[in-house]
Amino acid sequence: MSAVPAPPAPSVPPTPFSASPAPGSATARSGETRSSVVSSVAAALRAAGCVFAEEEAELIVGAAGTPAGLAAAVDRRVAGEPLELVVGWAGFDGLRIAVEPGVFVPRRRTEFLVEQALAQAPDATVVVDLCCGSGAVGAALAARLGGVELHAADIDPAAVRCARRNVEDRGGRVYEGDLYAALPGGLRGRVDVLAANVPYVPTAEVGLLPAEARDHEPLVALDGGADGLAVLRRVAAEAGRWLAPGGCLLVETSEHQAASAVAAFGRAGLTTRLAVCGERDAHVVIGVAPRAD
Ligand SMILES: C[S@@+](CC[C@H](N)C(=O)[O-])C[C@H]1O[C@@H](n2cnc3c(N)ncnc32)[C@H](O)[C@@H]1O
Repeated sequence: MSAVPAPPAPSVPPTPFSASPAPGSATARSGETRSSVVSSVAAALRAAGCVFAEEEAELIVGAAGTPAGLAAAVDRRVAGEPLELVVGWAGFDGLRIAVEPGVFVPRRRTEFLVEQALAQAPDATVVVDLCCGSGAVGAALAARLGGVELHAADIDPAAVRCARRNVEDRGGRVYEGDLYAALPGGLRGRVDVLAANVPYVPTAEVGLLPAEARDHEPLVALDGGADGLAVLRRVAAEAGRWLAPGGCLLVETSEHQAASAVAAFGRAGLTTRLAVCGERDAHVVIGVAPRAD
C-alpha cells in the first residue's frame, strides 16, 4: 500500500468517446464539443491544484453520463476525492478494477506483489486474496494465471461488495470476515498463492497520510496497529495451516518494517525472502511453506 494513489494514469484506456455524443451525455449540450468540455473541466481542476488536470479531465468526462453527472464528478474531484473513486475505476496490472467510495484504491506499487507471486508460483491453481479490498490483487492473479480457483476475503462489507464486482466475473468467490475465519475450511493445506496486502501504516502515522487516503479510505484499510505489523503477524502466524506444500505467502510492507516482517514469516516456519522494487518503492515479503517429504 502506498501512501498516495498513483497519479492518474490508468494503464487501461478510458471509455472511448463518440464524436457525436449521445443525447443526455455529458457533452450533449448544444454547441459544446468534447474537447471544449474537457478544456473547461481541466481548467476547473487546474484551479483546484490538480497536477494532471488534462489527463484527469479526459477520464472524468469519459466516465460522466450526463452534464449533471459531470458537474457532480468535477465537484467531488475539486473537493479532494481520489480520481479513481470519482470515475469509479482504477487501472491495475492492465485491468480496469471497479472501485467505490469507502474502499481502498489499489496502488500501482502493489502490482509488484502480483509480479512476485507469478514468479514464485507460475503454475498456481488455488489463489487466495486475503484483505482483498476491491479484489484487485486476486483479479490480476486470476487474469494472469488463467483458470485458477480464486477466493478473496475482507472484513469490511463495503470492500466485499466491491470485490464481488471484480472477482466473481472471473469465477472467484468473495467472503466477509476476519482474516482466515472468512475462508471455507476446505481450503486448508491447498493454497498455492496466499496474497495479503494488509493494512500496514502505524497507528500514529495514519494522521500524516495525504488527505486523499486519510479522508477517503477507511481506517481499517490503513491502520496496521502500533508498529503497523499487527495484521501482518496474524496473517503470517496462521499461513502454514492454509498453504499447500511449497505454497507461498506474499505480503507488502515498507522498507523500515521489512526486517520485522521477515522475522514474523520466519517464526511461522516459512522460508522467507524480501523482494524490493526501487522504482516503485515496493517491498514484498515472500514466505514459502515446506514441501512435502
Ligand atoms: C491496504 S488495503 C488492501 C486492499 C487490496 N488488497 C489492495 O491491495 O488494493 C487492506 C484491506 O484489508 C482489510 N482488512 C483489514 N483488517 C482485516 C481483517 N482483520 N480481516 C480481513 N480484512 C481486513 C481492509 O478492509 C482493507 O480492504
